[in-house]
Amino acid sequence: MDEVGRFIDRSNTNAEKYTLRQKLFGTDEVTPMWVADMDLATPACVLNALKERLEHPVMGYEIMKRSGFEAQCAWVKSHHGLEISPEWLSYSPSVVASIGCAIRAFSEEGDEVIVQSPVYPPFYDMVRINKRTLLLNPLHRDREGMYRFDLDDLRSKITPKTKLLLLCSPHNPVGRVWSPEELRALGEVCLEHGIRIVSDEIHCDIVYPPHKHTPFASLSPELFASTVTLMGPGKTFNMAGFSISTVCIGDERMRDLFNHERMRVHFGDGAALSHVAFESAYRDGGTWHRELMLHLGVNRSMMAAWCASIPPISHYSPEGSYLAWLDCRSLGLGDRQLREFFAREAGLGLSAGLGFGKEGSGFMRLNFAVSSAILEEALEKIENALQRSGYV
Ligand SMILES: Cc1ncc(COP(=O)(O)O)c(C=O)c1O
Repeated sequence: MDEVGRFIDRSNTNAEKYTLRQKLFGTDEVTPMWVADMDLATPACVLNALKERLEHPVMGYEIMKRSGFEAQCAWVKSHHGLEISPEWLSYSPSVVASIGCAIRAFSEEGDEVIVQSPVYPPFYDMVRINKRTLLLNPLHRDREGMYRFDLDDLRSKITPKTKLLLLCSPHNPVGRVWSPEELRALGEVCLEHGIRIVSDEIHCDIVYPPHKHTPFASLSPELFASTVTLMGPGKTFNMAGFSISTVCIGDERMRDLFNHERMRVHFGDGAALSHVAFESAYRDGGTWHRELMLHLGVNRSMMAAWCASIPPISHYSPEGSYLAWLDCRSLGLGDRQLREFFAREAGLGLSAGLGFGKEGSGFMRLNFAVSSAILEEALEKIENALQRSGYV
């Protein structure tokens, strides 16, 4: 395979995915395929820019450079067709921190925040920890395993206290890349009720053709004026370890409210090396990203072919992200047993579906952003474990 897909040994590098194995799975003897980063090298353009920066010996405070924001604006325009201005962007150490900040900026304690389960667990945590009320609007799963918004359920639950929607687009863990029509219909409900939208678009660059990511803020001038868009290079270029992302708010009043809250928790302006990594990734990472998508496409097809041949496990091939949401319900195992089956019998550390909400019961999430050889080995391990246990 190409350079992007080569095997990289991350054990003993303080990678969370590896270091926490004992704690999470009770053993270090599992291939970790859980946390959403890639076991693939960060682009050479980023590593080279960092080496060059390290030639200068002073590592004092730095600020986000306008040229960094401009590089992100150019990327978003060319990849997603949305024209944004550097003035609308601000630095954030993490998308999750931005979600918390937006919740505080645009709602009061006791207000309701919509979360569409199953979803990335910090969505729930941020609502609860900020003393807002979770308004759960579960995604509807059709016969083919495709998830959709349930707008009737949403309409029936909205109250005058409903202030914010936390949208995951593309969606982790179910892998949907929402169509413009789906997003517009959801947006109309929000506009009818004066609900603002926090659109977490961190996975927006990992999308498989023919699907296309639609930035929520691009749908209409009204939705542009009600939306906070969260993006960053962490997933796209595998550089989550740099703790750098951005908040994009086109509406000036909303931006002021957010910035006030941002000051209260002192987001700061980021780290010297992160600024360099951020700018070089968005400016020079295009070729690498194209190769990445080819590699992930190969692994995604491998997953789909494998699942089609293993009846007890099924999945709807993700339209975006490198996460496969495996439906294991026909194994008939409880959630704890299911997790143990994968860890002990198959030797794999996956994310338990239940962690994404009760709708995730019986599911497991597998991160396939690894070399194709490692993925092949992992699928073989599952198959062998199923055979030994009499499932196939
Ligand atoms: C949907 C989603 N949002 C946010 C994050 C984390 O972003 P950050 O590390 O910038 O907080 C993840 C990581 O897996 C994610 O899947």
